Amino acid sequence: MAEPRLYTMVPLLQAAERSSLDGRHAAIGAYNVNFYAQAAGILEGLMRTNSPGIVQASKGANSFQGGADKIQYMLLKAMADLKYEGPVALHLDHGDEKSAMQCIDDGFSSVMIDGSGNNFTTIDNLYVTQRVTAAAHKKGVSTEGELGQLAGVEEDVVHEKSTYADPVIVPAFFRMTGADALAIAYGTSHGPNKGKTDLVNLAIVGDCYQRLRNDGMNMYHFLVGHGSSTVPQAFVDRINQYGGTLTGTSGVPEPILKQGRYLGVRKFNIDTDLRLAMTAEARQWLAENPDAVHHSPLVGMISGIFDGRIPAIDTKSGKAVEPGKITDPRSWLKPIMDATPAALREDYHETHDDPFIELMGLVRGTVADHVAYLNKEVFNNQGLADKVEGRSIDHLVGVAFPKLDSEPEVIGHA
Ligand code: G3H
Ligand code: 13P
Ligand code: ZN
Repeated sequence: MAEPRLYTMVPLLQAAERSSLDGRHAAIGAYNVNFYAQAAGILEGLMRTNSPGIVQASKGANSFQGGADKIQYMLLKAMADLKYEGPVALHLDHGDEKSAMQCIDDGFSSVMIDGSGNNFTTIDNLYVTQRVTAAAHKKGVSTEGELGQLAGVEEDVVHEKSTYADPVIVPAFFRMTGADALAIAYGTSHGPNKGKTDLVNLAIVGDCYQRLRNDGMNMYHFLVGHGSSTVPQAFVDRINQYGGTLTGTSGVPEPILKQGRYLGVRKFNIDTDLRLAMTAEARQWLAENPDAVHHSPLVGMISGIFDGRIPAIDTKSGKAVEPGKITDPRSWLKPIMDATPAALREDYHETHDDPFIELMGLVRGTVADHVAYLNKEVFNNQGLADKVEGRSIDHLVGVAFPKLDSEPEVIGHA
């Protein structure tokens, strides 16, 4: 196994920020990962465009794989298999305090502590972000907090304007918590049904960024846009052509993402687009290779999920999903994870001759295609890997952040 060589996200975001000051306005893609072929596809996409990148795993992804340590190993194995040497960070997406502390211990190079939920006041959010950041920085791990709630429709609830991030608070949030990055809610939302774009308020992005610039904070503190999938119609059409029943889908139009990076977003989160790409690929391949089910119990399981013979379960909520509405590959891979987890980890392909391996190769390819497309055409970061300086949060050595609940403490890294 190659020696771990994960970057924190700070030098990656710094490279994007420097490019922005030069008029290029690049941003870094942060791509969610759940299983090996997806990790390999993200890395392959980054290699094609020579881009820095962030691979991020949610609590759901970690529990799907049986632990954050397994995800970390999976990414390092994919890096070794691909002889990947570029700058990449492994980041926890939407962590809580417990999962963030776990990932800091389990070899992630970056964590998000999302203290912006309904049950948190701004003060709670400041405290928890500060606690996690102090622990993370001691180990050389970078952090992302969140301010505001993603506006738009989430879980059937429409969040109103009051849930946008308040730009006035942003510099103080960074100063009081020491966080390296901050997700600012500006009107995007998670998932494939984002609704109209009239809730998107790019002025919030510009205002947050200008305040950081005015305070000289922009080289160490960065803005993040969640819910950034573009939901390409071609993916949706392909899913529906091969048995899906998706309706009312829409994403963030590419011009909005481009304006977002122009105005100051440096990290864009993409999960849904990859889910759709992988699901489209799997549905089409199953339709075009009906014999594969006879040669592979694993392919048989996926086929059974798609045509409703095996119940489809949302792995996060445990609730049933209508087969035609599946977008999350964890739902169609769940029985495989239950029966043959090795097939979704790292080295199954080396030892098995199974049509399932062909499907995983296609999944990897479609992920690589979309990652490379977004890097080049939307995030404008092609070739930026060569401009990344350093790997860690060296700038934090000797820097003191005010602690909210005790004396200031000098923060170094292990
Ligand atoms: O923010 C949500 C991300 O898309 C991760 O989703 O928690 O279902 O893995 P997940
Ligand atoms: P999408 O659902 O738009 O891909 O958003 C992903 C995200 O914000 C992950 O944190
Ligand atoms: Zn998110």
